[in-house]
Amino acid sequence: MCGIVGYLGNKEKKEIILNGLKELEYRGYDSAGMAILCNDELKFYKKAGKLQNLSDFMNDLSFKELGVAIGHTRWATHGKPDDINSHPHYGEFSCVIHNGIIENYKELKEELKNVNFNSQTDTEVIVHLFEEYTKKFDVYTAFSEVVKKLQGAYAILLITKKAKNTIFFAKNNAPLIIAKGDNDKEFYLASCDAPLVGISKEVAYLNDGDYGYISEDKITLLNGKIEFKQLSSDRQSAQKDGFSTFMEKEIYEQAQIVKNVILGRIKNDKICFDELSSLENNFSKIIICACGTSYHAALASAYLFEREAKIEVRIEIASEFRYKDAYLDKNALFICISQSGETADTLEALKIAKENNLKTLALCNVDNSSIARLADYCVLIRAGIEKSVASTKAFCAQMVNLWLLSLYFNKNEKRALKDEIFVLKNLDLSVNKTQHEKIKRLSKRYLHGHGFFFISRDIFYPLALEASLKLKEISYLHAEGYAAGEMKHGPIALADSELFCVAFMPKNMLYEKTKSNVLELSARDANILVISPIEFDMADDFIKTKDCNHYMIEFFEMMVIMQLFALEIANKVGANVDMPRNLAKSVTVE
Ligand code: G6P
Repeated sequence: MCGIVGYLGNKEKKEIILNGLKELEYRGYDSAGMAILCNDELKFYKKAGKLQNLSDFMNDLSFKELGVAIGHTRWATHGKPDDINSHPHYGEFSCVIHNGIIENYKELKEELKNVNFNSQTDTEVIVHLFEEYTKKFDVYTAFSEVVKKLQGAYAILLITKKAKNTIFFAKNNAPLIIAKGDNDKEFYLASCDAPLVGISKEVAYLNDGDYGYISEDKITLLNGKIEFKQLSSDRQSAQKDGFSTFMEKEIYEQAQIVKNVILGRIKNDKICFDELSSLENNFSKIIICACGTSYHAALASAYLFEREAKIEVRIEIASEFRYKDAYLDKNALFICISQSGETADTLEALKIAKENNLKTLALCNVDNSSIARLADYCVLIRAGIEKSVASTKAFCAQMVNLWLLSLYFNKNEKRALKDEIFVLKNLDLSVNKTQHEKIKRLSKRYLHGHGFFFISRDIFYPLALEASLKLKEISYLHAEGYAAGEMKHGPIALADSELFCVAFMPKNMLYEKTKSNVLELSARDANILVISPIEFDMADDFIKTKDCNHYMIEFFEMMVIMQLFALEIANKVGANVDMPRNLAKSVTVE
């Protein structure tokens, strides 16, 4: 989500860090900052907003002597996107930058009762803890002791006046790369390949749990081991981490995103949303408003809120809601869901809810967005910047957050919350490469015909709607999503040998009922693709999913499959996957 760059050597440091951050800016642009240590002087600079602000702020400065520099672009998770919360965070003689979330930062702050914290971030605790430990240990041991205390996800760079020409690093569940420079005495660090292309040929991708330090001519691992590899030389593909499109990269990122979303949300078998602690759970119903993919997440969440939390839910398309003069129950909680936080229709809907004095909650991916700022409460979905216009990882993050919220709002003590938490914690969305290859091969059979029906039941029905939206957005083929039970009330009239019907048939949700609807279509000669853990003889094509015993595990696996299916068909028709015609990532007009 955030971007990290580090440099040790005698070249001009400001430009190296700014150029590196430029490559990462798309990942986070709430603020940027850097710290430089040369000639025993430690200086830091940070500015809210785009990288250009930092660049302008440092306009006349130059740092040519041997030394170290670390830089950061921020994607806010804890604390507002202002100058103070920008990285680096500092103590008396050290600075730190961090990507990720320190889950136990509140507990660690307890150890530092005498320290004044400047920011609202989780990160700041690292630098104070380090300085505290240097009172007892040498700097290397102090850093090791800090890392051992950290829980959560992190890529960390730390520099200190107590160790000249040295950068300390640590990695866990957030990427970090060390790169060799032009000579033995020059090193770079970065959170992805992109800033390193063209300046380094050899890189080492750190593993989770690795930490250590780089000093003038060597890398010392205090834990783990390091292996250098050749770096690819293509800048575009470096930004895409070697994937051919951002959409594919973002589909593959989902496994990590689920982990990011649940970080700190589950403690002692309870769901935690600290940002909602003052929101009283006494609302009469929930009204959810959104557009596009976010609207599909809203529709899916209704099944969770009603089933898990036993709360009545009403879902509205924002562009409809804003002009319908809706009747609004004053005791309802109004939720709006928006990846960008800027969608005009959703923003207007939120304003209407506020004018009617409803309590409002936003689920957004962009912290300083208009919707995030306006709502009374905001939950950040933590998907990181989504570059592909067709939303994938944001939908995934929305769904995990909504599932967590449905458990958080649940008032029924008897429910088996422990079981749900177990499933959430073990949710694995890693793409099965063999399955992806199969989808690639299958996709070429789906390029003709007069259209697609995606069908299913329950929460898999909004998934079918989202599947049809994904396919039409990026391949321009005609696709519709239907509740399987509705086929017989009209759509089945279109069934013939030129219709493709994709059926989600989860084992744990109304399998037999959906099966009957699929058989009705098969009897009318439609081409059937079944996605299910249970073999289905009447299907023309079949994608087998894992056998499991929770419908939400099936939901997320089928979500990945439908995203890959749309992607591969779009690739076959030669469409521009990341920038489909006529669409925009953030629709700020009516
Ligand atoms: C646009 C995008 C869609 C997105 C929708 C809602 O139409 O092309 O991918 O789902 O806006 O966007 P939001 O940022 O509010 O989630």
